[in-house]
Amino acid sequence: MSLTAEHPRVPLSHRPTPIERMPNLSAALGGAEILVKRDDCTGLAMGGNKARQLEYYFGAARAQGADTVIITGAVQSNFLRMTAAAAAKLGMACEIQHEERVSSMGVEYHESGNVLLDRLLGAKIHHFPVGEDEAGADRALDEIAERCRAEGRKPYVIHLGIDHPPIGALGYVDAAEELLAQIESEGLEIDLVIVPSGSGATHAGLLAGLLLLGSRLPVLGVCVRREESLQRPRIARRVSEIGALLGRPDLQASDGDLRIDGSILAPGYGKLNEATQEAIQLAARCEGLLVDPVYTGKALAALIAGRRGGGIPRDARVLFWHTGGTPALFGYRELL
Ligand SMILES: Cc1ncc(COP(=O)(O)O)c(C=O)c1O
Repeated sequence: MSLTAEHPRVPLSHRPTPIERMPNLSAALGGAEILVKRDDCTGLAMGGNKARQLEYYFGAARAQGADTVIITGAVQSNFLRMTAAAAAKLGMACEIQHEERVSSMGVEYHESGNVLLDRLLGAKIHHFPVGEDEAGADRALDEIAERCRAEGRKPYVIHLGIDHPPIGALGYVDAAEELLAQIESEGLEIDLVIVPSGSGATHAGLLAGLLLLGSRLPVLGVCVRREESLQRPRIARRVSEIGALLGRPDLQASDGDLRIDGSILAPGYGKLNEATQEAIQLAARCEGLLVDPVYTGKALAALIAGRRGGGIPRDARVLFWHTGGTPALFGYRELL
């Protein structure tokens, strides 16, 4: 039986997602093979990691009889786009809040990419002028929920703050099970998994799932949202909380389990740097693979830097976990 079987879940994602070899990128970087886990192919209005996470948020929303889902995120958030898609598919209303997290961005950032899709998917869009005020953004969501209740609707809020349980991470506990089954059935050999680490639901969910399943496969999280000194305790906390959600309050990630790379984050969330630009081009031109400027481009840049600089041993076979995000490419056109 699956570790998450007792939690309400609405199937939304295509899974298992494929694992593909990347011979050209592997050769370009030298060293052992690099593979890619295609969570950009989960379906749900252009795919991404949030499809797996939303299965549990919508499971909880449905269990509570909700008819509206409310969520906050960056203007080019994939989470908002996919929440709007899930709500549409399930016949629910969706209200999303765009936070101004990335300064000095142009018209396409505010109108194209995920924002265009948010509109097509029928979400009601609210605006929040600040980007680094999680508590304030959550309070604004609660106010929207209050207004919905006054209209007789039943809202379910997906909060941003760390004080809310990491329900979505359960989707990545499932993904850990999926990965181990694929390694077994496809005869794969993998020494390291690399994944972008933002809210931490993906990173902590995978790590918790692997630990609970008795696997020692290391997971390296690449900071895309906050620096390493903040992300490390966040992932440790999330792993314990996931354990508690699954009836395993003893679950803890050791210092050795917590692998975090903060070297590619600068100049900050949603801001392109040269290494990320190069990673986007290299993936596209070697493998016909699209990675995004905010999340997967940075994770791939960390992989490239690790392989070139020796931080990732040349003989380590690496699985790059592609978490999606490609619609944001259009929002960043002027910079690309
Ligand atoms: C494409 C993509 N990759 C990675 C992440 C980070 O995932 P998490 O928030 O689970 O750490 C996000 C988060 O929004 C995302 O949209």
